[in-house]
Amino acid sequence: MPPAFPILFSNDQILRRTKELARRIADDLRGAPPLLVAVIEGARPFARLVQQALPGHLPVHEVRASSYGSGTVSSGEVKITTGSDLPVAGQHVLLLEDIVDTGRTIAALQRHFLAKGALSCRVASLLSKPSRRVVAVTIDYCGFEIPDEFVLGFGMDLDGRYRELPDVVVYDREIERRHGLSRVTGS
Ligand code: PRP
Repeated sequence: MPPAFPILFSNDQILRRTKELARRIADDLRGAPPLLVAVIEGARPFARLVQQALPGHLPVHEVRASSYGSGTVSSGEVKITTGSDLPVAGQHVLLLEDIVDTGRTIAALQRHFLAKGALSCRVASLLSKPSRRVVAVTIDYCGFEIPDEFVLGFGMDLDGRYRELPDVVVYDREIERRHGLSRVTGS
């Protein structure tokens, strides 16, 4: 059993909201199916839901982007390490994200794909933290806006942990510590 972190959005809420977003996406792009591009790792579960909710069972392509910097300070430079050569020319790209934080990742991906000849590059993100924005980005389809909380689950991790949680939860160090202790003592 994982630690009982407070649930911000249950799996059911995520499912319902994603279906609403998918309906809007399908309406907006009627007749011009988008090239779905998931920003991995975190966006995989959300991308799968969007894919299932859209008509036509479109394939999901993947792109990976990393921010570079020294130590804990991000330089803000984003490097695309996987999927930079996706054939986007003449396509309507729909980027699928788990969360938009500073906006740097999405802004860099949009710049890249539009420069490669994409007709458009829209964004669907399960979560957005507007208070953290450094670069202005438009999220065409936003699941939920959240305050500046450290969220995990449904694809989002802490050093590789908790990605597999079905709900979006708020990280709490104390809950994690107590959970670790109870596993050791068996209480
Ligand atoms: C997260 C998230 C976005 C990015 C958002 O990815 O999935 O891609 O950060 O941050 P930004 O708006 O400040 O650019 P992360 O770097 O944690 O990688 P992961 O998805 O592989 O865990």
